[in-house]
Amino acid sequence: MHVVIAPIRREQADTWIAMRGRLGPEWFVTRIEGFVREYFQTGRIDGLRHVVLLAARSDGTPVGFAEVSLRDFAEGCAAGPVGYLEGWFVEDHARRSGIGGALVAAAERWAAEQGCTEFASDAELSNPAGLEAHLALGFDPVCDIRCFRKSIRS
Ligand SMILES: CC(C)(COP(=O)(O)OP(=O)(O)OC[C@H]1O[C@@H](n2cnc3c(N)ncnc32)[C@H](O)[C@@H]1OP(=O)(O)O)[C@@H](O)C(=O)NCCC(=O)NCCS
Repeated sequence: MHVVIAPIRREQADTWIAMRGRLGPEWFVTRIEGFVREYFQTGRIDGLRHVVLLAARSDGTPVGFAEVSLRDFAEGCAAGPVGYLEGWFVEDHARRSGIGGALVAAAERWAAEQGCTEFASDAELSNPAGLEAHLALGFDPVCDIRCFRKSIRS
């Protein structure tokens, strides 16, 4: 399938919002309208510099996106800035045809243009497809993290 990958335009914001809704996580989705506004005004999401890449078929039908940030630090990386794959999604019907890989390649190009020499990402252990896709695209696993929470009294 031939796809065009380019930074998302303001008039495509609804597509980004809809796809993020399908990707999750819930905390991000509940704040997406504010993040979209911030991104188009400042090039940042939650204060962190980003590019959002949209993949679309040649007839314009959107099929996936990648949100890529510049982080000061990422696990396993030597020094910042590090290009970081914050969000990565391809519509169900378009998977396994190279679009996810093409998005990552474009994300890596953007990060390299910003001066990064390393590119990083994460995937939940409960997402075997996400884990496998990272390995297939040349990412090396660097560490496993279990997240914790508890309620505290003020
Ligand atoms: C992960 C995701 C973006 C991959 O998109 P995609 O368009 O299917 O990816 P591609 O077709 O370009 O595949 C890239 C590589 O990953 C491998 N891969 C993709 N899906 C895979 C799966 N389910 N199982 C094993 N390998 C897989 C492909 O074989 C390919 O390797 P190759 O280049 O050696 O052939 C897509 O599955 C998705 O949107 N999943 C739901 C959201 C998600 O999990 N995002 C990632 C969060 S960490």
